[in-house]
Amino acid sequence: MKKVLLSIARLAVLVVAAFFAFALSPAEIDAIERPAADSFDADLVAKGRDLAALGNCLTCHQSEGGAPYAGGYGVETPVGTIYGSNITPDPETGIGRWSKAAFVRSMREGLGREGEHLYPAFPYTHFTRVTDGDLEALYAFLMTRQAVAKTVPNPDLPFPMNVRPLLAAWKLLFLDEGAAPSDGLGDELERGRYLVDGLGHCGACHTPRNLFLTEKTDAYLRGGEASGWANPPLAGDIHSPSPWTAVQIATYLDGGFAEAHGVAAGPMAEVAAKLKDAPAADISAMAAYLVSLQTGVAMPSADNSKTATPSERIALGETLYRGACARCHEANGQRGTSAPGSSQGLPLAQSTALHAPDGRNFAQFVLHGVEAPNGEAGWPMPGFADLLTDEQIAAIADYLRHELAQQSVWDDMSERIADIRSQGEVAR
Ligand code: HEC
Ligand code: HEC
Ligand code: HEC
Repeated sequence: MKKVLLSIARLAVLVVAAFFAFALSPAEIDAIERPAADSFDADLVAKGRDLAALGNCLTCHQSEGGAPYAGGYGVETPVGTIYGSNITPDPETGIGRWSKAAFVRSMREGLGREGEHLYPAFPYTHFTRVTDGDLEALYAFLMTRQAVAKTVPNPDLPFPMNVRPLLAAWKLLFLDEGAAPSDGLGDELERGRYLVDGLGHCGACHTPRNLFLTEKTDAYLRGGEASGWANPPLAGDIHSPSPWTAVQIATYLDGGFAEAHGVAAGPMAEVAAKLKDAPAADISAMAAYLVSLQTGVAMPSADNSKTATPSERIALGETLYRGACARCHEANGQRGTSAPGSSQGLPLAQSTALHAPDGRNFAQFVLHGVEAPNGEAGWPMPGFADLLTDEQIAAIADYLRHELAQQSVWDDMSERIADIRSQGEVAR
């Protein structure tokens, strides 16, 4: 059913698109001579550096081992892979000939300098919220980077997704351009919202998407889908068994780790690694805003007798947990705190991953282990991919869900683990 709807939806878009693509072809903005780096004010460049950290620009605009901002990183989307562009000031392969107006238009309207439509894998649906002053600073920052000549691959998409003009129709329907109206939240919360919704583009992962791959406005930050990882909700009832304080969110965002909540892993590790270079006041503002959106926490269901899990399986899970996990996750039997440098893990009763509605993130943690945030030394959790079978990890999951989270066990856990194992480790 979902598939049928999806094809009908795509067909409808196509028909509308064919019309608008030709009616609305955007103009090219004239090329300029590459501005000299010293024509930009140093304070403006420094402000731009902070904003680039908040916007995580490097995540998608630097390939593994490649030069900063030279692009080539493949952004995986449900329809195919789109490569982050070269946004260094190289005149031929980068944005060296882009005027400020061309840059501002790309961030607000998702258009290249020559008027070509860009894919929303570039999160301009969020960047459109950014103010003129901040865009000017980002432009100054990018135009003063080292120019690198590098041509990035074309998007790897099937027909009709590979026809850029069709994006005109998608934008007409879903791109809500410009700043969001102020709603009198007060300075700090207002700043936090501006960053979360704009440069931070947190909703790109944390808001669920509809059939058109557009964020659902009525489920703002209520948890998003990804292939190997689940992006937990940040608003409403969160999955963490204890509420997040603003200080905890702030240390999680810029240090990759928070007391009582654990590490930022998988795609979130990458986000935190970039946010560590952002100004502390901005991180605090985002944290304060996010706390204001939480309404409750994951409640253990009082009745877990409905779990149809055989008790031998729970018992096997406990034995394995005692042997493989407890020494790090329960210090001397005492459910202590974890801290970087100690190799002591979070008491798992506090883990968001364990309280999530499916076991994807749990499986990621156990199969691939945990690295210390921001490349700090030590503090490891080894990956158990080579040590435990899918069935054994599933038994541990059953035991932990039943005993520590006091919730029903996850369905089809061994299949899910096998799936994630076959995808291999996602680098970011
Ligand atoms: C989630 C990934 C992602 C992030 C984060 C991201 N971009 Fe991009 N960006 C892309 C992709 C993918 C493209 C290419 C889109 C296409 O080919 O249609 C792109 C294209 C662009 C372009 C157009 C370049 C051209 O030659 O057409 C600019 C300018 C740009 N990004 C600037 C930025 C800035 C500035 C930031 C940080 C504030 C940023 N991007 C963050 C994914 C990202
Ligand atoms: C590329 C996808 C992605 C983006 C962008 C992203 N996140 Fe996340 N986020 C995740 C994933 C995946 C997790 C789960 C990671 C884990 O459990 O270690 C997560 C976890 C979190 C958590 C912990 C939630 C909990 O209950 O445990 C917070 C807080 C968070 N993100 C905040 C943010 C903020 C703020 C932004 C924007 C600045 C953001 N995220 C952008 C993918 C993303
Ligand atoms: C050598 C010590 C060590 C061992 C052994 C170990 N862990 Fe960990 N584990 C850690 C550390 C350190 C972290 C990161 C801090 C944190 O988030 O708890 C972690 C994190 C986790 C997390 C993520 C918690 C969260 O939501 O942030 C899960 C789930 C987890 N471990 C499960 C297990 C399971 C299951 C086993 C046994 C199969 C295991 N660990 C064995 C040290 C260990």
